[in-house]
Parts: sequence; structure tokens; C-alpha cells
Amino acid sequence: MKARLSFRLGRPEPLRKIAMSRLIDPFQRTIRYLRVSVTDRCNYRCFYCMPSQGMVWEERSHFLSFEELTRIIRLFAELGVDKVRLTGGEPLVRRGILDFVRQLSALPSLRDLSMSTNAHLLAGQAEALRAAGVQRVNISLDSLKPEVFRRITRNGDLEPVLAGIDAALAAGMAPVKLNMVVMRGLNDDEIEAMFDYAVAKGADLRYIETMPVGEAGIDGTGHFMPAVEILERLKRHAGAELVPAKGGKGAGPARYYQVGEGPVRVGVISALSRHFCDDCNRVRLTAKGELVLCLGQEDRVSLRDGLRRGLNDEEMKQLIRDAIARKPRSHDFNTDERRVALRHMSSLGG
Ligand code: 5AD
Ligand code: SF4
Repeated sequence: MKARLSFRLGRPEPLRKIAMSRLIDPFQRTIRYLRVSVTDRCNYRCFYCMPSQGMVWEERSHFLSFEELTRIIRLFAELGVDKVRLTGGEPLVRRGILDFVRQLSALPSLRDLSMSTNAHLLAGQAEALRAAGVQRVNISLDSLKPEVFRRITRNGDLEPVLAGIDAALAAGMAPVKLNMVVMRGLNDDEIEAMFDYAVAKGADLRYIETMPVGEAGIDGTGHFMPAVEILERLKRHAGAELVPAKGGKGAGPARYYQVGEGPVRVGVISALSRHFCDDCNRVRLTAKGELVLCLGQEDRVSLRDGLRRGLNDEEMKQLIRDAIARKPRSHDFNTDERRVALRHMSSLGG
């Protein structure tokens, strides 16, 4: 509003440019955070994320090349996005990821470059990734019991994942955030053990309610465990030490709690509550170059088509602005569960 007024009053050119180069959606939310899925492939098959078989993979030629991805991310950075997270599928299975990270690090206005990974391949790469510019990682860790871990991930191996977590910590990535999707009857008996593990490692921990996507979200599996119940269990376990963290409600979906005086924070994410939509600052790019405006809505805009039609930078930016103008106010998980249940998380990167 202010910016528009000063523009009318004929403020000098640079100010006008700054005001215009931000991405603001119809609900006055500034988009500063881009989540980029670099591949839909994954070396795991977590049952809440992918079907056991019959997964339809995107053709590799449909994926954006790293050059195309870098260009899109540079355009977003010029439009005010300063935070980028690389996701998958599993980002570490895509060849050339390290060079790609180096290219992104060279973009002047990116302040925060992070990655979400299952950590299966992390142990051997954490040091190099840190040096290339990945400042922090989020790691999926749903169980500390090898056989339960294997059951949830369908073919995953706990040992290299724990080694990957240690390697990330040793490489100085900070914070290392662990994500545990809590499922009744599968891993809910490990809520307390996971807390103790995170505290011992000095890693942040987030408990995540299963979302109504993929097989775990389909009615009748009985695995759904509401965030309030997770929080109750946690409070009983941690006792008086658990206090809401300062600034604990950021733009992200987690509500955070501080553990004693230490640096460790625990968060609980409720996918079905809408409290985070009001502050939403993010959009997602799929591996084939579609901009997904909201995790819980179908609407998407192909940036790849624009690139491959030969649009120049200004035209591409306009395409991005027009897409942001379509960002919905909030997800529709609550109102249209059956439709979203058919979608899988693997192409969206969580
Ligand atoms: N429900 C909740 N979280 C999910 N993720 C993937 N699928 C789901 C789902 N159905 C998230 C998890 C995982 C990350 C890769 O994506 O947090 O750790
Ligand atoms: Fe792979 Fe992560 Fe999906 Fe599991 S949740 S299948 S590790 S992308």
C-alpha cells in the first residue's frame, strides 16, 4: 500500500524497483521461500509417501535441467525469494547435485540454502554439501528400531541414516532437523525415545501428523494420530522442561517448544490445522518445472513451458507474478479429503 502511494507521489526510481520486485500474493503475503523438488525418484518407498508398486515416474526428459533450475531460482531470487530448500523425492539420488548446489550458492541474494533428505546417502556427502553451501538439512527419521524403520520405508536401512545424521552434525550443518511422521500402532511408541535421541544429538525434532495424501491418509488405516495427542505424550515425558519457544510460531507449520536451556527445539506439525496458512510465504517447484501454489491444492503453472518457449527473463518473471496472483488463501485438506488422498507426496517434497 505504502509503496503504491510513494510511487504515485513520484518517488525516485530505485525505490519503485524494490517495491515491484517482491512477490506479493492476493492476501498480502510476501513469497520469500521456494521449495524445489529436483527429482521425483527416491531410494526409499515410505508407505505414507508412495504406493508400494505402480508408481508412475516422470520421464527424465521432462525434468528441468540444472541449468534451467538455476535460471528459475535466480529469477525468484531477483523477485525477493531469499530462502531455497532442495527436496525430492530424494535430492541426493540425482546425479550432479553437488555442482548444482555450488551454482546456487553463487547467487548473491540467496540467504538460506537447505535440503530435505532421507539421509541414506548423506554420510559420504555431508562435508562436501556443507562446503558447497548447504547450510542445514531436514532428515526424515520415523523410527529408531531397524525393523520398524524398514517397514515404514519399505526398504530403508536405519544404519546409514544414523551415520548420515552424525555426518551432518559433524560437518557443522545447523540446525539439523529430524522429522518423524507419527503413526498410531507403527511408531507412536517411539515418541519419547525419539525425543531423547534428538536431545542427546543436539538436533531439532519435529513430530508430524500424517497428511491426507498417499496410502496413510486414506480413511480406515487407523494410523492417524492427532498433533494434540502427540503433544500430550511429549509433555508428560519432558515434564516441566517443555516451554513454548521464543518466536516459536514462524511462517512454517511447526509450533516449537524449547527443551530446558539447551539449543534443541521440538516442534509439532498439524497438517490439518490451518493456523499456518495466514503466514504462508512459500511456493513449490516440481522436478518438471510446475509451480505449485499450495501443498493442499491442485492448481499449478508450468514454468518449464515458458522456458522451453524461449521466454526472456522479464517474460518469465511476469509468468511467475501471474502464478503468484493465483495462490489460494489456504489448503483444502479439511474440505476435500478424498481428492487429495489420491495424490502422493513424492513429487512435492513434503
Ligand atoms: N504425511 C506427512 N508427512 C509426509 N511427508 C511425506 N509424506 C507425508 C505424509 N503423507 C513428509 C515427511 C517426510 C518428508 C520427506 O515429507 O516429513 O519426512
Ligand atoms: Fe522417499 Fe522421503 Fe517419500 Fe520416504 S518420504 S519415500 S524418503 S521422498
